[in-house]
Formats: sequence, structure tokens, C-alpha cells
Amino acid sequence: MGYLSEANNNKGVKMSQKTVKIIKSSLAVVMLVTTTGAYAEADKVWPRLKIEVKQDPAIENQVKSLLSSMTLAQKIAQMIQPEIRDITVEDMRKYGFGSYLNGGGSFPTANKKAAASDWIDLAEAMYQASVDSSLDGSSIPTMWGTDAVHGHNNVIGATLFPHNIGLGAMSNPALVESIAAITAKEVMVTGIDWVFAPTVAVVRDDRWGRTYEGYSEDPEIVKSYASAVVKGLQGSVDDDFLGNSRVISTVKHFLGDGGTEKGDDQGNNVATEQELFDIHAQGYVGGLTAGAQSVMASFNSWHGNKIHGSKYLLTDVLKQRMGFDGFVVGDWNGHGQVAGCSNQSCVAAVNAGLDIFMVPTDAWKPLYHNLIAQVNAGQIAQSRIDDAVTRILRVKFRAGLFTKLSPAKRVFSGKTELIGSPAHRDVARQAVRESLVLLKNNHQLLPLSPKQNILVAGDGADNIGKQSGGWTISWQGSGNKNSDFPGASSIFDGIKQAALQAGGNAILSVDGSFTQRPDVAVVVFGEEPYAEGHGDIDNLEYQRGNKRDLALLKRLKAQGIPVVAIFISGRPLWVNAELNASDAFVAAWLPGSEGNGVAQVIMANADKTIAYPITGKLSFSWPNSSDQHAINRGDNNQALFGYGYGLSYGDKQQLTNQLNEVAAITMVKMTAVKLFERAAQMPWQSYVSVGQQKNLVESSQQQLGPLTIKAIDKVVQEDARLLTFAGAQLASYRLISNFPEDLRAIYEADSWLMASLKLKQAPTGRVTVAMVCQESCNAKVDITKQLNNMPQGQWQRVAIDLRCFKQAGADMAKIVSPFVLSTAGELSVALADIVLQPKAHAPSSDWQIQCAP
Ligand code: BGC
Ligand code: BGC
Repeated sequence: MGYLSEANNNKGVKMSQKTVKIIKSSLAVVMLVTTTGAYAEADKVWPRLKIEVKQDPAIENQVKSLLSSMTLAQKIAQMIQPEIRDITVEDMRKYGFGSYLNGGGSFPTANKKAAASDWIDLAEAMYQASVDSSLDGSSIPTMWGTDAVHGHNNVIGATLFPHNIGLGAMSNPALVESIAAITAKEVMVTGIDWVFAPTVAVVRDDRWGRTYEGYSEDPEIVKSYASAVVKGLQGSVDDDFLGNSRVISTVKHFLGDGGTEKGDDQGNNVATEQELFDIHAQGYVGGLTAGAQSVMASFNSWHGNKIHGSKYLLTDVLKQRMGFDGFVVGDWNGHGQVAGCSNQSCVAAVNAGLDIFMVPTDAWKPLYHNLIAQVNAGQIAQSRIDDAVTRILRVKFRAGLFTKLSPAKRVFSGKTELIGSPAHRDVARQAVRESLVLLKNNHQLLPLSPKQNILVAGDGADNIGKQSGGWTISWQGSGNKNSDFPGASSIFDGIKQAALQAGGNAILSVDGSFTQRPDVAVVVFGEEPYAEGHGDIDNLEYQRGNKRDLALLKRLKAQGIPVVAIFISGRPLWVNAELNASDAFVAAWLPGSEGNGVAQVIMANADKTIAYPITGKLSFSWPNSSDQHAINRGDNNQALFGYGYGLSYGDKQQLTNQLNEVAAITMVKMTAVKLFERAAQMPWQSYVSVGQQKNLVESSQQQLGPLTIKAIDKVVQEDARLLTFAGAQLASYRLISNFPEDLRAIYEADSWLMASLKLKQAPTGRVTVAMVCQESCNAKVDITKQLNNMPQGQWQRVAIDLRCFKQAGADMAKIVSPFVLSTAGELSVALADIVLQPKAHAPSSDWQIQCAP
């Protein structure tokens, strides 16, 4: 169904469920009769793309004839993409999966140090198993997809290019195309066919943990880069299209991932349809026109509906209207988030137009069996399956998979000298140089003469893992040491080399202490690596509550030493205080493996002439206060440095050292954070747990061990939950987020955790409410006494001071569960309206637990 039904669905939130159903079913009738009318909206907003790759009748015939020979099971197997941690080569032989992936930080033989030959061995074994028809009767080559998002980043020794945010600052599509072509080659050395890149998110709110995966806040660069990356990875119609030195590319994440409310990863985008096209879809215009063969569906929702289940966007807009004839792959169990779906079963996603399920974990097996059963039961039309498989086979024929040699025998396979080769690193280094943006250069401190005594400080100075960010060997980019990057260089390495060559000297001192007074200090500092929702923050203040790096800058400055700040970050952050404490300030983003590229630019030649100019320009507006998270080009904002800003050497501009240092967050009134109102509020979800087992609460009555949860009515239908603990075993009701949430702002606003409770049966044992954080803190507050004193059968509003949780060890920056109610005894209590509420605006409560400041 089309846009109309989705739009009504959204408005329907405010209507009764019954009204929604009536509207939906009458619309269904209208849509069915006016089949052509269904695309009326799409026609107005979305253009038909002039896709450069045309359908080849010979290939279309091959696809048709192969498809007609396939069984339903073989077709479904083409649509299943499991992960290497969850399948064996024997599973591949038995089922004949159309594709498989390795996720971030997932390696052959589970070995981080796996050699290129290990990757090839796995690729070869999987390929041979897929074409072995002895078990599944099919001999269709499988394909392996990987997240080579800044070079072949899961492989030790690979060239790591700057993350996309840095590339955005270069404004150089030709260089971006070379980077993609090199990435394709390094990927092919390991026998892999397919890359999940480029990310074309247009990032509108920098609190988003994936900001650095985007090139810009503005569609202009994203559109041109998308086309360049796709051509670099896949080649183009007139240049080696999917030839022997190319891989398949994926434009992701369709659609609107960079535009969710509050920058919430996997959140809700409420753009109008026109904005969706004008802002968020421009990377698809660029990438699909250039011939990208796949598109990844996004985790996010559009007006409350998950994209994985949106027939309007996946089928009507993308495939029918825009004319995309490749396949749509899902994201990491993203189908399981569609209303009514689970990881194991999701009719809605196939019917919406998803062609390949990315189904890591052991969910692939039930999903496979369920899909077969659902087609047999008529819940999914055979024609939809045929369409999906046609698209998959079309791409496989276009990519030459049926005629190419096996992975171990391809042109670049095993040419390990190409992984991290000097020529590849040269290109990465050029990108590092061009990505640097000079924000401050008072008294023209930069570039530095290499003939001086240079103190190099900060925990980013000699830290290749930090300068590379997330999606680096591991998914989060954490846990890496310099020795995990053979052939790479840190920023300090580069400075030292330049100084030594010119007769100067560079000393590394992370904490900035020294014995011999330096002429100048270079301080390299910034964000620790993160990926996806783990990087979501609630405002842009750098090192809130712990200004370690500012202290270091100030210490050096107080001694009269000129200070150069090199800031490593995945996004613009509010660093006014750090700017004030530095004489020069360079935004270096996440440069990757070639840290010495930074040194090449900030260091002059021995004769003080400029070695390399500094040319980067901001592709993201830079905030002047900690709450300017959503400032973007053209919106008349009061950015500190606007889109396109970037000084050159020789510019005489002086930046004041008196920028405002008062964080906006203490000036704004922090409003309540709702955790549960009628249902758990995103990003939280309700779970029941016993021991290690945690079950998502999916139905109105559910039981796990001694705990039964039932939806009941407080004011409106099913706006509360009755928890009945039968005792004898510890059980909990939990609100859980997939990613740790930063609750510092609401904590600092001096708040309560409030809830409405109605006691049905008093506790027979100890009852606690806890907050749980990522680093396994479990901060408990005992409420047994209060419950025992409560009257029965009466709703009461209760309040617990957030300070009690902090004092019990909760790290408010990383909360995965803000509410866990547990007991091993018997208890029956109803629960509603759970909220974090600043005391200043809190309603009165029947009982409170206070803790001293
Ligand atoms: C990410 C995708 C990625 C996939 C496979 C997901 O969590 O959103 O960008 O391609 O995992 O690793
Ligand atoms: C995988 C990533 C994936 C993420 C999503 C990780 O375990 O390695 O590739 O994107 O999970 O949750």
C-alpha cells in the first residue's frame, strides 16, 4: 500500500485503534481499484533516475531460465544472508545461501589476526560449497559481503582511509573514486565480492553516533561522492563495470538515517516527503544513477514506520518510480524491528520489497523455514519471491559470478602485497592531508618549523586506534594497540620524522610533562572510538564533567608555551574552552592509518616554506554552544564556524580567546525523559528476565519462570502492567535499550525517577529498583520498606532520587537499563508512567527516597 495509508497510520496514533482499522481497510479498497493512482504521490516528488547500467536482454534471459529451474527452497536460500559466526561451510553446502557476511569485528576462524590466506580459504570453501549441488541441488555461486567502510577495515594491515566525515572536508570526488577503487582491490585480495558502502546519510543532528560515517550535513557533496564511490568500487559502464578488479557496492541506509529525531540511532525521521527526497535521498540519486547494484534498508523509521516494512519506500518509490533494478538487502536483523515481526519471522518485510534478509545470529534457520511455510500458505506471493530472486540473480550475472574463477583464483586473490601497499597508503595520506580543517591559527603559528624542540602530548598523539575511530578491526574500534596496525603511522611518528630530518627534535609526553622546555607543544586529543548507537550523545559538549584535555592545554599555555591542538573526532563538538586554550586548532576528524599525513601539513619545510597547504573546508557546521546539535547549511544558524569554513596558511584572521565557555545545557530547562508511558518509550523496550535469560515482552500477557506480566488499564486501555512474582527465584522486569544512553543531562538537572505503583500483594522478600550501565554496573536501591508501607489497591506516585543510583555506582553516561524491578520473593504490583523528572517541575509524590548531594 502507498503513502496515503502510511500517512493515515501516523495520524492514527491519536485515533482509537478501531478508527485506524476502518480507515486502513477502506483505503486498501481504494488503492486496489486505482492501481495507477497508487503512485500519484511518488510521481510528484521522486524522479525517474537515468540509471547508467541498462538491462541486458541476454542476462535477463539467463535469469529467467535459471529461475524457472529453481525450487522454492533454493529461491528462499538466495534471500537469506547469514553471518560467518553462525554458519559452517556444511550449512552453505546444505542450504546454498545466496550470500553471507562478516559483521564488524568478525573474522575467519574468529581470529582478529587472521591472515589474508585465512580470508581466502573461507571464501573459497564457502564458494565451492555453494556451487556443490549434491545436497541442495543448486549450483549458484554465493557472494560474501563486508563492511569495508574506510578501506578494508576488518583486516589487519589494510590501508585505512579517513572516515567519511574527513573525506567530506576535502571536496575531491576524483580522490574519493581512487580511494574506492583501492578499497575494492584490497577487498578482492581476500576473495570477497561485495562491499556495504558507501554510507550516504545526510547527517542533520550531530548527536548521532554515526555522524562520521556521513560525508556532510548537506546533500551536495553526498550526491557527488556517492556517484564517485560507486564508480570506484564497481567501475562504470564505460570502464570495467564489475570487471575483474571491482566489487559490488551498496548504497546505505535507505532512507533518512541521518535525519532521525534527536540524532537517535535507528530512530524516527519525521521529514516531509519532499525533504526526504531533497535532503536524504540525494546520495541515492548519485549512487544509483552511477549503477550501484544494491541498496541497504535502514533501521530507522519514517513517521513511525520502520523502513524495512515500508512497501511505499522500498517498492513504490525506490524500485518502481526511481527504477532501481538491483536488490534491497536488509540491515542486521532490521526486519525483526518491523511491527509484528521477529528476527525469525517477517512476512511484512518481504511483502514491502526486501530482497535479502541480513540475518546474523541463529535466527537464519527459523527464518528460512518460516519463509518457505509462509509462501506455501499464501502469505507471501510466489511472484514477490520470483521478483526478489530475479534481482539477486541479475546482479550475480552482471558481476560475472557465474563465469569468474573461484575466489582463490581471481586476479587479485592472495596478492597480499597489495594490502596496505605503499602506493595505496600514499593515496590515503593525500586524503588525510586534504581532510584537515584549520579552525584557528593565531599569529600564524602553523605551519611549524621542524627545526624546533617540539613537545607532542595528548592521548591521541601516538594512538593509531584512536585516530582510526569505530569500524576499525573491531566493530566499536576499541581494544586495538599500535601493534595491530603494521605499516601504519601515528601523528607523533610523522612529527618526529619531520623534526629529525630537519635537525629539530620531537618528544612524546602524553601528559605534557617535560624536563627540557619545548619551543612549542602539539596536543593531540579527542573522542574515543565508537560505532552506531554506542556513539549517540545528548549534547555536543566535549568531555562534559571531566575536562582532562582542557586541563592539559591550559597547563601548557600557562607556562607560556605556544599550543597547537589537533582534535580527533567523529563530529563537530562544542570545544570553545579548548579553542580558547590553544593558539592553533586543527579538526583532524578520524584520519585512519596514515597519521603522518597530519604531520606533513602542520610541519613546514626546513627552510620554513609551506610543505603542503591546508585546504579542508567544513562539510558540517561547527557549534558555538553545546545545544547546537542540529545546525545545518542554509538554516541561518549562529554556528561558530559555518559550513565551508576553513583557514589557509597565511590568513591573518585572529580568533578571540574569549569564546563563551558556559555550557548551554545548564542554561536550558531540562524537561522530563519518559521511559514508559502506555508502553516502553523508544529507545527502551520492556523485558522480563530470570538468570541469563531475557525475553522481550511482546504480548499482553507473558510469563518467564516465576514472573508473569500482564497489560492492564490505569486510565486508558493497556496503559499499565501488572507484575506478579511467584517467588523462589530472582526475576526482574527491565527497560532495556540496544545501546547505552547518555542520561547525564537529566541527572545534572537534579531529577527523580518517578513511577505510578499500585500494590496488589505485599512483598515477601527484598525488592529493588536498579539502574544498569554498559560497564556492567548494577546500581540498586532497596524499596522493600516503602512497598510494605503502601496501601493496597490504590495508585500512588513514587519518586527515587537519581543521586541514589549514582551513589550506588551508576555511570549516567552509559545507561542500558534505567529501570529494573527485581525480587526473589512473592509480590504483585501494577506499574505505569515511568519518567525521569527534574525535581523543580515534578508533581507531588506519595513517597520518596532521597539521597544527599
Ligand atoms: C550496520 C550496517 C552494516 C551491518 C553489517 C549494521 O549494524 O548498520 O551499516 O553494514 O551492520 O555489519
Ligand atoms: C556486528 C556489527 C553489527 C552490529 C549490529 C556487531 O556484533 O559485528 O557488524 O553492525 O553488531 O548490532
